[in-house]
Amino acid sequence: DLRTPVIAGNWKMNNDRTAAKALLSDLAPLVKDAACTVITCVPFTDLETALAATAGTDIKVGAQNCHFEKSGAYTGEVSADMLAEMGVEYVVLGHSERRQYFGETDVTVNLRTKAALAAGLKPIVCVGEHLEDREQGVTAELVALQTKIALLDVTAEQLQNVIIAYEPVWAIGTGKTATAEQAGEVCGVIRATVASLYGKEAADKLVVQYGGSMNAGNADELLAQPDVDGGLIGGASLKADAFAQIVAAAS
Ligand code: G3H
Repeated sequence: DLRTPVIAGNWKMNNDRTAAKALLSDLAPLVKDAACTVITCVPFTDLETALAATAGTDIKVGAQNCHFEKSGAYTGEVSADMLAEMGVEYVVLGHSERRQYFGETDVTVNLRTKAALAAGLKPIVCVGEHLEDREQGVTAELVALQTKIALLDVTAEQLQNVIIAYEPVWAIGTGKTATAEQAGEVCGVIRATVASLYGKEAADKLVVQYGGSMNAGNADELLAQPDVDGGLIGGASLKADAFAQIVAAAS
């Protein structure tokens, strides 16, 4: 296989340090020796706890955002270098909740992506359409555009550290999952877009995840799509057994 699947949990604003430690210690034995890459993306305040709790396990740690400047007068922000210095390996960028509630745009997602890559982090860049976009038939164009802008000035070498997550906004936290065909189709659009920018070989190596109400019951079918290389899991990542079942489906 060209691509090792990647299952990433996005805890969003959940789990204090006590809960984080408990969840990760429950999860670690369940995902030991998984055949896919397993990541948990945690709140900033949990990072140190998560790094300690996952040391020597098969779980990798990510943050859920980073700023694009290296340092300076940006109250409340955390830089990519700060995360890298802690030993954090991954960072979710451009999640639809960041776009919807915190003014994130395609341009700032691109800035953050470049900053993360320059710091040696591996960004999980989120793209996806709203329900109106899908109803108007512009999903493919929109997701292609989001992908292109996110990757502006990202080099072919840097692209090897990028994961793209396709998350239809209407499927996030709603219990409404995209059909496997819908997920596969749009993940294919993302891969084709990357192929047009970097060539087929680079695109064939790119990990493209699906996210949006993915759970133990639907993971098999979604992951069976040739262009779906993993998942970005919200709600189901908050329970060790549910998350481990998705990891097993990807292995
Ligand atoms: O980052 C994860 C996604 O937003 C999916 O969340 O699995 O709760 O729908 P969800």
